[in-house]
Amino acid sequence: MADVSSPMDIDHNGEKPNKPNSSSKGKTVVVDGTPPAHPKSTPWVEKYRPQSLDDVAAHRDIIDTIERLTNEKKLPHLLLYGPPGTGKTSTILAVARKLYGSEYRKMILELNASDDRGIDVVRQQIQDFASSQSFSFGRASVKLVLLDEADAMTKDAQFALRRVIEKYTKSTRFALICNHVNKIIPALQSRCTRFRFAPLDPVHVTGRVRHVIESERLDVTETGLAALVRLSSGDMRKALNILQVWNFILVQATHMASQHITEEAVYLCTGNPLPKDIEQICFWLLNEPFSDGFKHIAEMKNRKGLAMVDIVREVTMFVFRIKMPSDVRVKLINDMADIEYRLTFGCNDKLQLGSLIASFTGARSALVAVAK
Ligand SMILES: Nc1ncnc2c1ncn2[C@@H]1O[C@H](COP(=O)(O)OP(=O)(O)OP(=O)(O)O)[C@@H](O)[C@H]1O
Ligand SMILES: [Mg+2]
Repeated sequence: MADVSSPMDIDHNGEKPNKPNSSSKGKTVVVDGTPPAHPKSTPWVEKYRPQSLDDVAAHRDIIDTIERLTNEKKLPHLLLYGPPGTGKTSTILAVARKLYGSEYRKMILELNASDDRGIDVVRQQIQDFASSQSFSFGRASVKLVLLDEADAMTKDAQFALRRVIEKYTKSTRFALICNHVNKIIPALQSRCTRFRFAPLDPVHVTGRVRHVIESERLDVTETGLAALVRLSSGDMRKALNILQVWNFILVQATHMASQHITEEAVYLCTGNPLPKDIEQICFWLLNEPFSDGFKHIAEMKNRKGLAMVDIVREVTMFVFRIKMPSDVRVKLINDMADIEYRLTFGCNDKLQLGSLIASFTGARSALVAVAK
């Protein structure tokens, strides 16, 4: 019965944290830092997950504010939102460690809304956990319900959560985490203090990746590191995953010619077109007749296994960099945005390659007219 529960009733197996659902989308979260059975197979994203708020790279304003509120025991309900791999879950786990120390496992309930969405999650698991607090930890600080991927919750569940939050505000703080804040109903948003986690600055990604490179004693060239940071686009999880995959390939293939992680290796490992391939493609787009351009690009695409959508994205970046009249540039970029849009809806690659070449043919005529 809830009203005579002991702390062990909350932490049922006495070992694991309150975590009914494991995280989804392969983002397994190791909340207590317990070493796994095979340390070598630990994903680096977990091995190097920040343990304290000081370890969290970037977001200094947010961290300082949350730290101050935690120190003053004025922690509000939180809504942390922003793109993947920017430190939202890591930050809230570090807050929990700071708040509870060794009681950490018993004092948080970690739910992943996208695993088990719906009103039952809100009504049962949260309610049970939150309501047991006053009897089990009467003198302790408030508990924390961590609701990851909250944007996957149904509207009904969100409305139900609104009531649960109100009911247990005295004993429990809620931390909602999501990528898309616009999917959280306004009534919930207004009950939380919102913090936006922006994509990480290249400087911060570089700093943290360097730390991992040194700890793992990896041989990574400076251009390899720069490519890794660029491809991760502010997502630290992506950066660490690319690094680990490539290191794995190197360890497995001792016969490989290059035993260090180069720029080319990073691009190959991620399936992204190499900068020199993009330059070659752009050269063809700007110089070759339609049929020759089509033949060359299609052949390179097949030989190297490139995705059309990656080619279009990189060619767009190229168009941003080279000198041309702004109206020609705008037209080209709009055309390529249309092509990218059609590709994401499954339109045929060959047709879209034809469109790409056709829009460059149009741009070339405009450039020749300007030059005359
Ligand atoms: N700001 C950061 N400082 C240091 N490491 C970070 C940071 N952000 C992300 N990481 C690294 O990336 C991994 C994933 O981070 P985290 O789970 O905190 O991301 P998230 O913002 O919650 O992403 P998602 O929206 O996909 O859940 C962490 O384990 C950590 O290794
Ligand atoms: Mg997360």
